[in-house]
Amino acid sequence: MLKGKIAIVSGAAQGLGEAFARRLAQEGATVLAFDVQDKIETVAQKIADETGSTVVGMKADISKRADVEKVVAKAAELGGIDILVNNAGTWKKTPVDSSWEQAVADWDFIMDTNFKGLLMLTRASVPHMKTRGSGDIVNISTYYVLPARSDGTNSPDTDLYNASKWALNGFTDSWAKALAEFNIRVNALCMGATDTPMLRGLFPDKQLPPDMAKQVMKPEQIAQQMIDLFKDGRTGENIGAWVGYPVELGPRKVAHKTISGVA
Ligand SMILES: NC(=O)c1ccc[n+]([C@@H]2O[C@H](COP(=O)([O-])OP(=O)(O)OC[C@H]3O[C@@H](n4cnc5c(N)ncnc54)[C@H](O)[C@@H]3O)[C@@H](O)[C@H]2O)c1
Repeated sequence: MLKGKIAIVSGAAQGLGEAFARRLAQEGATVLAFDVQDKIETVAQKIADETGSTVVGMKADISKRADVEKVVAKAAELGGIDILVNNAGTWKKTPVDSSWEQAVADWDFIMDTNFKGLLMLTRASVPHMKTRGSGDIVNISTYYVLPARSDGTNSPDTDLYNASKWALNGFTDSWAKALAEFNIRVNALCMGATDTPMLRGLFPDKQLPPDMAKQVMKPEQIAQQMIDLFKDGRTGENIGAWVGYPVELGPRKVAHKTISGVA
C-alpha cells in the first residue's frame, strides 16, 4: 500500500517508534528511522533485512536544530517526504515542589524533545510534502488528552510531560486546518499503556505488574492503527487507544452543530 512513499520516524530505536518503522517498511515504504541512541543503525538494518524495504538508520537528536536539518536533508536525498511520524518522546518525574533551577532544567529536557523538536522537524518537512502533492503527519500523544474517556488520569508527578502532550493538541488542530489545502493530513495517536522500554522503565526490574502485563497494549497494535489511519484519510483528529478495548480507529469526529436562528 505504501510502495514508493518515503517516511521519517523519530525515536525509532525501540518501542513504538521501532514498531512504526517496521510496519511502514512491511507496507513497502522507504523509511528514514532516526534516534539519539547508537543502536538505531543496527535496528534499521534488522528491519531492512526482515522486510526487504529500504530502511536507513541515522543517529540524530530531534531537540537539536542542526540534527533536524540533517535528517530532512537525508530524506530529500532519498527522494522526499510523504509521511512523518513524530514519535520521539522523553519522560521524567517533575514534582511541583522541585527547586526553581530543577524546574527550568526539566522544562528544557522535556519540551526541547517532545514539543520544540517536533515543531522543528515538522516545519522543515512540510515544504517537501507540498512538493510531493500530499502528506501524512502523525503526532504521538497520549490517552489523557482525550478527557471524555480519560478523566483524571494525568499523573500529578509529571506535569511537564503531561503539558507537552496537551500542547500537541494545538499543533494537530492548527496544522490540520492550515495544511488541508495541500492535501496534507495531520492526526495524533493517543495511546494508553503500551509495552515499551519507556513503560517498563517505570517499574522495578522493568517488570510490568501482573495486572498490567495481562492487559497492556502491544506496539504492533498501535502501528496497525497508524496504517489504518493512512488508509482512512481523515485529518485533524486525536485517535485514542485504551487498555482493555479493541485498538481501532473508531468513528470519525462529528462536526458540532451550529445553533443559530438564521437559516
Ligand atoms: N509506552 C506507552 O505506554 C506510551 C503511552 C502514551 C504515549 N507514549 C508516547 O509514545 C512515544 C514513544 O514512546 P515509547 O514508549 O516507545 O518510549 P521509549 O522510551 O521506549 O522510546 C522512545 C525513543 O525515542 C528516542 N528519543 C528520546 N529522545 C530523543 C531525541 N531527543 N531525539 C531522538 N530520539 C529520541 C529514545 O532514544 C527512544 O529510542 C513517546 O512520544 C511517548 O511519550 C508512550
